Amino acid sequence: MLLTNSTQIITRKSIQVLQIDNALGFAEIALFGGHILSFTPKHDGRERLWVSENAIYDGKKAIRGGVPICWPWFGDHKSDEFGAHGYVRDQAWHIVQSQDSELGTLVTLQPATTQGPGFDGQTELTLTVLVGKTLTIQLNSKNIGETNTSINCALHTYFAVSDINQTHLSGLQGKYLDKTRDFDSFDTPSNYQFNEETDRVHLFKASEVTIHDQQTETSVLSEGHDSIVVWNPWQEKSISMADMADDSYLTMLCVETAVTQGQILSPGQVHTLQQIIR
Ligand code: BG6
Repeated sequence: MLLTNSTQIITRKSIQVLQIDNALGFAEIALFGGHILSFTPKHDGRERLWVSENAIYDGKKAIRGGVPICWPWFGDHKSDEFGAHGYVRDQAWHIVQSQDSELGTLVTLQPATTQGPGFDGQTELTLTVLVGKTLTIQLNSKNIGETNTSINCALHTYFAVSDINQTHLSGLQGKYLDKTRDFDSFDTPSNYQFNEETDRVHLFKASEVTIHDQQTETSVLSEGHDSIVVWNPWQEKSISMADMADDSYLTMLCVETAVTQGQILSPGQVHTLQQIIR
């Protein structure tokens, strides 16, 4: 079944958005990009995700905020010809199935195609989203070709915070690569706070990272990843980005469940990247 009693499709500017509203939670998923835009569990009524007030819904450019799906590469492609973070975040997805149960609403989506310039693997890609007391996101990549293939990917989640200057993270340790410092390696601070542009690939398979935001905590549970990426563009970059307001860096923080080191998939193999937001 494509729609259930808990789901409806609305239109926002040029894109269609699946709204899910059940006894446990509310969520929105843009069919452009398979891009989750909102998650509010009903037990506390707190929106977990951040979407830019200047986000562009033209069905061409990836939406700024929510949960962009980065696939089949993460960050820059090794060739300059191709844009960052792969190509499925800016293409049409469709609903394969949705189902209500006592756990919430489970929605399965797929992109129009997984083929694109810059990637020659033959891979099936499926996103499943369970909207319940928590939000469970699974990105399943299956090698349907006859040779090994390699992918990178990320659930590039933008979390809402009330003030980045009063926010800290826990659950990370070990080394990180700092993109703002030519990918030099540094030790993760024990008191992880924010006071500058932050763009870090933590090569640490943290199973739980917590965002401490004044009075609230948001937990990010990850599986199937090799890295956690932490990003805040800070002021100068926010000003330079057309789809961000000048001061919007103050109210967001990306904590991304990512594969950055290349996941080899042998023929028939399935890889699942999972993020649970609590
Ligand atoms: C992060 C990268 O994952 O995504 C940053 O580490 C990048 O370097 C950010 O700036 C946003 O990327 P984009 O392509 O959505 O502007």
